[in-house]
Amino acid sequence: MEYILIIGAKSDLAKNIADIYASKGYSLYLTGRDIKSLSKFSESLINDYGVDVKLIDLDLNQFSTHKAFLDEIAILPLGVICATGYYPNQLKAQIDNKEILNTTTANFTGPASIINCLVEEMKKIKKGFIIGISSVSGERGRKKNYIYGSSKSGFTTFLSGLRNDLFDQNIHVMTVILGFIRDETEMNFVKKTLSAKPREIAQSIVSNQIKCKDIVYLKWQWRYIMFIVRNIPEFIFKRINIK
Ligand SMILES: NC(=O)c1ccc[n+]([C@@H]2O[C@H](COP(=O)([O-])OP(=O)(O)OC[C@H]3O[C@@H](n4cnc5c(N)ncnc54)[C@H](OP(=O)(O)O)[C@@H]3O)[C@@H](O)[C@H]2O)c1
Repeated sequence: MEYILIIGAKSDLAKNIADIYASKGYSLYLTGRDIKSLSKFSESLINDYGVDVKLIDLDLNQFSTHKAFLDEIAILPLGVICATGYYPNQLKAQIDNKEILNTTTANFTGPASIINCLVEEMKKIKKGFIIGISSVSGERGRKKNYIYGSSKSGFTTFLSGLRNDLFDQNIHVMTVILGFIRDETEMNFVKKTLSAKPREIAQSIVSNQIKCKDIVYLKWQWRYIMFIVRNIPEFIFKRINIK
């Protein structure tokens, strides 16, 4: 029985990813804070797909627990997916150091710490994959959200280095650069066009993982948009207020 581990399993996106892997016969380790709140969801996966699902409490802020977290995992997972994230109020994060710490912990240093612990074990069997969910906000700093953006940027760079490091270890690392997840609120035309529902994003993530893609932009249009945004000269970029 092969396991997939999802770090930050409580969001709609993460639950859809969990459902898709379970439908393919993978058992799951689902982690998060107050993870017992997923009890009903995990029971439905067990009943629908006959897989094993273990819920493991994990607070990324508690760095001292990260190594011990491995003790809770009896069978090393084949795949690890990191879906945690925290989008702070930018202005608050500029003046409140707790907020900036929460942001970097949820988006970058926490996932990197857990992934590092898992990689040490995965290297011993030279098999597996890691998926990290990052953001278009990490591609270039903007006034609107550069605290969040810089934490995602750190995570994107971490994943790039990890991919390079693990290439000859038969462990594949995929970076997902996400634009918007479509929500229930009124979205304007542009946001609607460039966003996708959690289920569609989850399906793309799994199918791209199966194809062993390195970097995936979701939706695909973001690859070209961010190419342009990254290449705007700084003397122009600093003068514009990109939403
Ligand atoms: N929503 C978007 O439009 C969008 C756009 C680009 C990228 N993304 C990325 O896509 C992923 C999923 O996004 P989402 O909007 O579905 O996320 P979400 O609903 O905000 O869920 C994020 C998850 O991260 C967990 N988390 C945050 N801080 C944590 C910590 N210190 N320790 C453990 N877990 C922690 C949360 O757990 P709690 O419930 O315990 O807080 C929650 O389950 C994230 O990586 C996000 O940055 C989202």
